[in-house]
Amino acid sequence: MTMTDHLISVPGAISAQLAGVCSLATEGHRWSAGNVAAARRVLADEQSRTLIDALTERVSRRVGSAPGWAVLELPDRLGDEDLQRAAAGVLAALGRPFFSIDVGGGRLWIGNESSPDGDAASFGGFGLNRLHIDAPNVEYVPDYTSLLVMRADPAGGGASVVGDLGAAFAELSDCDQAALARPIYFEGRAEGLHGVGEPRLPFPVLERVGGRRWIRWAAKMLDDPRNAGHTAALEHFAAALARHTMSVMLRRGRLLIADQQRIAHGRAALGDQTGLADGTRRWLVQAKVAYDAHAPAQHPAPASSPVGGRHA
Ligand SMILES: [Fe+2]
Repeated sequence: MTMTDHLISVPGAISAQLAGVCSLATEGHRWSAGNVAAARRVLADEQSRTLIDALTERVSRRVGSAPGWAVLELPDRLGDEDLQRAAAGVLAALGRPFFSIDVGGGRLWIGNESSPDGDAASFGGFGLNRLHIDAPNVEYVPDYTSLLVMRADPAGGGASVVGDLGAAFAELSDCDQAALARPIYFEGRAEGLHGVGEPRLPFPVLERVGGRRWIRWAAKMLDDPRNAGHTAALEHFAAALARHTMSVMLRRGRLLIADQQRIAHGRAALGDQTGLADGTRRWLVQAKVAYDAHAPAQHPAPASSPVGGRHA
């Protein structure tokens, strides 16, 4: 099943079943309870055991040494909606899928084709998107984030990048750790989001919640004038994170899952987009997951290891 350490194949039969029994229906900002239950019935079948074991080893919070990220490979021949249904079903192995940004229509998976409009460094832009976790500036940081590739960059760029937050943290001095634990940092705005509680600005980069460490990281903090005078520890952390970063090329059907307690993500710049017509450029969609101790890849959670699922 596992072709490389981080790549987990989702067999065609399981993908087809998930796409067949699930829809994209949501209840509020969450994938519907009926969908979650339907997906977990498929995942409870013996044929899904290898998949669940692989997810447990790579991304569950049940395994303290798990890397915290994985790339799932779904069949690229699935239609667009079936791909999104099957991918949501896989996410239900870890918790409850939800959207934090409402783009209308209760869409679980959000994101349009890459565009030159807007911020080149943001999701859906053409440029470099530096390492970050999603929504670092809210009360409840989404437990997991995921990116599903509907169409790769035809110009060959846009590799995804993952950074090991814990490994970078281990290289920090006590002084830097203390500085990052101060609730003085700003990043972006946090308005109109769902499933993440209230905005939290400023916030501590480093904090412990329920025995788990969060590192609220976004490289953009380095440039934010609101952080002027507090950037030394941020710069040290960015340098450490750069030493624990790897790049993965994603193609249609691949689903990157990252535990935001352990992994930051980003994107290399896209290739030369000159002459690429609408409908041919890179297209990624994203969904979040709220940790659920009863999800198939998290269960049974050891009583001695409290985890941070508490919202959405
Ligand atoms: Fe992101």
